[in-house]
Amino acid sequence: MSQELFDKAEAKLAEINEYPVNNTEELEKYRIAFLGTKNSIKPLFAEIRNVDNARKKEFGQLLNTLKQTAEAKFKTLQSEVSQKAAQNIEIPDLTRPVNADRIGSRHPLSLVQTKIIDIFARIGFNISEGPQIEDDWHNFTALNFPPNHPARDMQDTFFLDKDMALRTHTSSVQIRVMETTKPPIRTISPGRVFRNETISARAHCQFHQVEGLYVDEGVSFADLKQTLYFFAQEMFGSDTKVQFRPSYFPFTEISAEMDVSCLVCKQEGCPICKYSGWVEILGCGMVDPNVLENCNIDSEKYTGFAFGMGVERITQQKYRINDLRLFFENDVRFLEQFNSVV
Ligand code: DAH
Repeated sequence: MSQELFDKAEAKLAEINEYPVNNTEELEKYRIAFLGTKNSIKPLFAEIRNVDNARKKEFGQLLNTLKQTAEAKFKTLQSEVSQKAAQNIEIPDLTRPVNADRIGSRHPLSLVQTKIIDIFARIGFNISEGPQIEDDWHNFTALNFPPNHPARDMQDTFFLDKDMALRTHTSSVQIRVMETTKPPIRTISPGRVFRNETISARAHCQFHQVEGLYVDEGVSFADLKQTLYFFAQEMFGSDTKVQFRPSYFPFTEISAEMDVSCLVCKQEGCPICKYSGWVEILGCGMVDPNVLENCNIDSEKYTGFAFGMGVERITQQKYRINDLRLFFENDVRFLEQFNSVV
């Protein structure tokens, strides 16, 4: 009977010595098996009373060795496992170069608008802005649109109610400036405008304009031509040619449109200029005396010129972009092609 218990204890010792521990989970299993409150050594202590008296002491000593071995081995295993875990932590390579941040780029319309503003700022124009939701007076009536003018038609204008609409052009800002400022006035008004158009490669329901206004004593059409010629050369290069064609706008008398020589084909003929060699970029004219009077500016004393250009048109010429929709889709593959220099 006694020998059997001795054999059991010896077997337990072997089990402790051979127990495989390679990681924290196995270490925990070992602890539960040999040191926990329900460990597998405990039942052997209960067996002491079954050992022959002559060998009781010897058995007791064996069990103590068993317990001490289990505890000592646990300590050793614990430090081994934590050392191993420390080794497994991946130490980053501190000499590796940092990931380059992706630097955003400015939108091409914003680049071109900034350049337009810079050019006019150099010859004394300040910047003015007005609301995108505009009333009938500022968008149409004060600009001398007759009551039944087609531009007021529901087809072109996004009306919000009888009196309010999304502005169809930045000419509305002219009125706001003239109502609140005494001449001399030299201002440009960049901004977004809206028209009820079906979206396609060549038309969009929103686009951008820069309006210009110069009111003072003795301002003439020659001033207008010289100013816009200067602008075209600064914008597109000194070999750029311009031409003025007679036109009609309710708020100017006389009125004209200005074309620039096609940058894309150098006037050889291409689809962008429709093989004419010229691309229209703006409307302009002498401010109609009625418009000055609508803003309480004495049209006997003062004259002025005004112009309005499409930012998309100019950007398309500058960067050879053939589809207007690209400007509003915000596809980064398109936007990334522009940096911050015009
Ligand atoms: N407002 C016109 C348009 O949207 C552009 C324009 C033409 C503005 C002649 C002007 C101007 O100031 O004088 O088509």
